Amino acid sequence: MNEENGNGGGPAAAERRDTVIETRGLARDFKDLRAIDGLDLTVRRGELFGLIGPDGAGKTTTLRLLAGLLKITDGSATVAGRDLTREPEAVKPHIGYMAQRFSLYAELTVMENLRFFSELYDVLPRERGERTDRLLSFAGLTPFKSRRAEHLSGGMKKKLALACTLIHQPPILLLDEPTTGVDPVSRREFWDILTELYTGGTTILVTTPYMDEADRCTQVGLIYQGQLIRCAAPEAIRAGIGEELIELQTDQWRKAQVVAEDLPGVSQVMTYGDSLHLLVDAAEERLPDIETRLEEEGIPYRSLRATRPRMEEAFISLVRDRERERLR
Ligand SMILES: Nc1ncnc2c1ncn2[C@@H]1O[C@H](COP(=O)(O)OP(=O)(O)O)[C@@H](O)[C@H]1O
Ligand SMILES: [Mg+2]
Repeated sequence: MNEENGNGGGPAAAERRDTVIETRGLARDFKDLRAIDGLDLTVRRGELFGLIGPDGAGKTTTLRLLAGLLKITDGSATVAGRDLTREPEAVKPHIGYMAQRFSLYAELTVMENLRFFSELYDVLPRERGERTDRLLSFAGLTPFKSRRAEHLSGGMKKKLALACTLIHQPPILLLDEPTTGVDPVSRREFWDILTELYTGGTTILVTTPYMDEADRCTQVGLIYQGQLIRCAAPEAIRAGIGEELIELQTDQWRKAQVVAEDLPGVSQVMTYGDSLHLLVDAAEERLPDIETRLEEEGIPYRSLRATRPRMEEAFISLVRDRERERLR
């Protein structure tokens, strides 16, 4: 017996209760541009969901729609059980939305910014002190609490913006490109904070243009030209692209690139420093051919091996599949 049956509804109802964000055929037009084009997105309670795609893919538009800040052109969306087509305002108490260009008050200090947002969100006065202290410490900003926001580094500004977003303790976070333009160390620190929030039970929908951040998420939605091209756990996306990867290290990578691009079974050649990454249909089967061709061309190499595709390569492969489908 499923114990869910006892308190009503069975597994389907349980799944519905667990769905925190759901869109069906969601669309948004800007004049004659369809910026969001039929998005079916499901985010479940407790997920750290990454919406990942290049500039202009539609990440910010999606989050603004989900935050109830932008009118839906077509389709439906619910957040925390509230229907955004009918009552976009009703989601606001349930979410913490951090805009891509979140505005802090430049001339206010770190502490004053937090105070300001705690008043804005009607945090009870007797809770303000404890909560701001805890968030300062959580974001690693305690030593900087008297510094004006305008004098913080880019990474610290993002952390302060997140702390301000958390002041009313929202169960759902919508974070729009919180790590864009931030240095790698601060990016890592920021993701550590997100992991901690996720571990504490907060549901997080975060967008990023950085493919390497995908592996820090429990679920990933890859977005391209306003459409979701794949949605799954990151390892499932990488394993499921139907292509494999060969890494070739050589000093003569320019010459090797030309040779590799012409080989049967090779669909894409990408350069990474002095290595080439070849997307191929079947790595182990193609390795001997590639070895032979490199020797024929007199191209020496340090290593040639099959390896796991990264999210970036998976994305490129999926986009190409999609364009092929479109041409057909
Ligand atoms: N207010 C707007 N008016 C017109 N076009 C817009 C507007 N906002 C976004 N767009 C367009 O919609 C597309 C998606 O943009 P956006 O959601 O900002 O993408 P991302 O956040 O992934 O970079 C882009 O082509 C962008 O130029
Ligand atoms: Mg954006």
